[in-house]
Amino acid sequence: MNDAHRTPIRASRRRAIRNLAALMAGSPLVSLVDANGDPVEGAQTPAGGQGGGGRQGGAASQRGDRPPVISLPVYRDEIMKVINLHEFEDAAKQALSVAAYDYVAAGAGDELTLKANREAFSHYWVRRKIMVDVSKVDTSFELFGKTYDHPILLGPGGGKNIVAVDGERLSALAAAKSKAIMVGGQMPMLAEMGKAGTAPAWWSATLGEATQQQAVDFAKRSEDSGASAICITVDYPYTSARDRPSRDLWDPEWARTRVYGTPEFRVGFQAGMLDPYTPNLTWDWMKWVRPQTKLPIVMKGILTAEDAKLAVENGVSAIIVSNHGARTLDGMGGTLDALPEVIEAVNGRVPVLVDGGIRRGGDVIKALALGAKAILIGRPFLWGLAAFGEDGVQRVVELLQGELRIALGLSGAGTVKNVDRSFIRAAWKPYKVTAASAPSSR
Ligand SMILES: Cc1cc2nc3c(=O)[nH]c(=O)nc-3n(C[C@H](O)[C@H](O)[C@H](O)COP(=O)(O)O)c2cc1C
Repeated sequence: MNDAHRTPIRASRRRAIRNLAALMAGSPLVSLVDANGDPVEGAQTPAGGQGGGGRQGGAASQRGDRPPVISLPVYRDEIMKVINLHEFEDAAKQALSVAAYDYVAAGAGDELTLKANREAFSHYWVRRKIMVDVSKVDTSFELFGKTYDHPILLGPGGGKNIVAVDGERLSALAAAKSKAIMVGGQMPMLAEMGKAGTAPAWWSATLGEATQQQAVDFAKRSEDSGASAICITVDYPYTSARDRPSRDLWDPEWARTRVYGTPEFRVGFQAGMLDPYTPNLTWDWMKWVRPQTKLPIVMKGILTAEDAKLAVENGVSAIIVSNHGARTLDGMGGTLDALPEVIEAVNGRVPVLVDGGIRRGGDVIKALALGAKAILIGRPFLWGLAAFGEDGVQRVVELLQGELRIALGLSGAGTVKNVDRSFIRAAWKPYKVTAASAPSSR
């Protein structure tokens, strides 16, 4: 990782080539028809000019009255070669030590839940609508009375400083630039960034505190540091063994020191271990903290209707359906499968968000259609950070937002606000379609 990674090359050679291609597209020298004389899909044809009209006119006139192309910001070539979130994982693997990569990638046990998080997206399919005016595509959404650019949040998690030097700060800067709410992060740093005007919208994050005093102090520090909500993750009473880091002799202490290449292995993960984190966390936490802060309290890690109802009764402001990226108890189902029962139990009383395995714009639209207000990503932005620093995180968010725009434009929804249950149906039989990425002929 070096500083050169952080400078977007906006007027790059790639853009020049693209501009030339756009000009050429308007040239009669370039064929926009296929061998049968039919217009090529996506080729610039005059507005309303279906059927073999692709060769006429210049680039400008060919766009006619159509809205402009929405292109994403351009970065240096190395980053632009990575064309989807799956491929950021490959790029990160090249950049990281085996131990650091495994630490982020790992799920618990046989990683059944890790696979289930992805596979759940083949349990539902989009019901597309046609003949709807989708000229305006809008990814914005509202939460706690504020409007945000898009419903993609960066999930809380250690590991940013493991995969990149100053990874916490780079992630926060990227969140601000890509207008993503960042959940978690180092509070003193975010407070300082807030004063400098470089902080993103952010929520403080905790895995719970053992005592009332600690919990109240945490809430106070969150307010003082400029958090706009408090996220309490309730699914981490224990750190459990994960095979990959157990094999790598991973030491959790490295998460704070970023020394992941040390030969002096101190074993942190051990097969079969149960390492207490906040095993005494109960609903008391809400009783302690709720009266002490005006900030919304978001509860992360709910997977059942019963717990969702209790959360609402105990005064949470929002729920995140999550299984901690499949890093805790193996054998739970995919989060998208748990979402409908939580949505039903909550019955609109508080917003519900979801995370786990979300990698594509099509995944986001499914989550929204099942009733989620917004989604979070975990590993993908850590992969972006590991491979390309701040730009990598930014690009990950922008790509996912770009893909969400595509899904909105093509599904007939047009805007995030329009997406509802009528846009989804359960698959009668899940397909085996969870390839890591689209096939490539290279
Ligand atoms: C390396 C790593 C560390 C994480 N640490 C935390 C954490 O401290 N608190 C938390 O609530 N979730 C944590 N998570 C879970 C994420 O916030 C998020 O729920 C999950 O990664 C989403 O799934 P995805 O990685 O498939 O996108 C962590 C995830 C990873 C990959």
